[in-house]
Amino acid sequence: MRQVPFADLYRQFCALKPEIDFAIAEVIRTSAFIRGPFVERFEADFATASGVPHCVSCANGTDALYIAMHALGVQPGDEVITTAHSWISTAETITQAGGRVVFCDTDADTYTIDPTAIEAKITARTVGIIPVHLYGQAADMATIMNIAKKHHLWVIEDCAQAHLARFRDQLVGTFGDAATFSFYPGKNLGAMGDAGAIVTGHADLARRMAMFARHGGLTKGDHQIEGINSRLDGLQAAVLSVKLKYLERWNERRRVLAKRYADALSGLPSLRLPVTAPGREHVFHLYVVRHRARDDLARYLKQNGIETVINYPVALPFLPAYRHHGHTPEEFPRAFAAQGEILSLPIFPEMSDEQLDAVASAIVRFTAAT
Ligand SMILES: Cc1ncc(COP(=O)(O)O)c(C=O)c1O
Repeated sequence: MRQVPFADLYRQFCALKPEIDFAIAEVIRTSAFIRGPFVERFEADFATASGVPHCVSCANGTDALYIAMHALGVQPGDEVITTAHSWISTAETITQAGGRVVFCDTDADTYTIDPTAIEAKITARTVGIIPVHLYGQAADMATIMNIAKKHHLWVIEDCAQAHLARFRDQLVGTFGDAATFSFYPGKNLGAMGDAGAIVTGHADLARRMAMFARHGGLTKGDHQIEGINSRLDGLQAAVLSVKLKYLERWNERRRVLAKRYADALSGLPSLRLPVTAPGREHVFHLYVVRHRARDDLARYLKQNGIETVINYPVALPFLPAYRHHGHTPEEFPRAFAAQGEILSLPIFPEMSDEQLDAVASAIVRFTAAT
């Protein structure tokens, strides 16, 4: 049986082994484990790649959200609007920062926050909006920024799944007051452990975020405020600087693979393929299809040696963590419908055409038999 993994990080490492080995050896040789030149270089490189003046690195993408909200001054009782469909980090950090999570349903095609549903959620206590560029596709940033401007709200773009994705030719992360990134190993740009960053166009916000992430001080011993310890380490920074050079190429390969999936699978009546909305440049962190018999399809693929994942099996408002909100499926009909049908197929830059064709053929066989 042919095996198709969901991702193949070892294959990516093997392709870059000499460069990564050298980068790691340099960090060890210079003992630049915490802060230091490798972290500074990655921050500068990532700011340039993201088209923003400031990058503040931190320990992971969850901390990035928390640090950004803390620096933006979220106070107890403040309400922050976010999408019903994301990884829990997007919501849990609102609570950690002292705010109250207000969920919004999703757009039917892109699974990102439905911008037409946002204004109804705004109250006198609303302070900000966190759209998530889910699966690698930008949320509707034009509408979201107009709403934020009209109601004087800040915007944090959660770019954890969308490194270098674009909305109307503009990079994600350049629209809001701040944008957060995860470099979790499986992300489009992934470290060899936990890593994250925040980018912003505001120098003062960048300074406050950096200070908070580093025990409240930018110089050792000079603690202006109480902070936290959320640092990117030198080894991760060195690895990320190597990988960053390949990110555009990898994203392009993901788009080619997505097109190959679409060519092979379009026309199957029971299968819904990902939709790229007008004006978006998708980076296909995930390739998510929908099928009414999703669990049967996943089982069939597994029997055929193909790994799949569900991102995410329960939409945020329906998780036990948010039971106290008392939400009902009727409030979030799209997120509720999606959670039972979505399935992420393997997609990663090192995936061969043959591997993709094996996945597509298995899906065609499944749909023909059901
Ligand atoms: C949308 C989204 N936001 C935030 C995060 C958090 O990132 P990390 O795992 O680096 O804390 C993730 C990671 O999976 C994510 O997918």
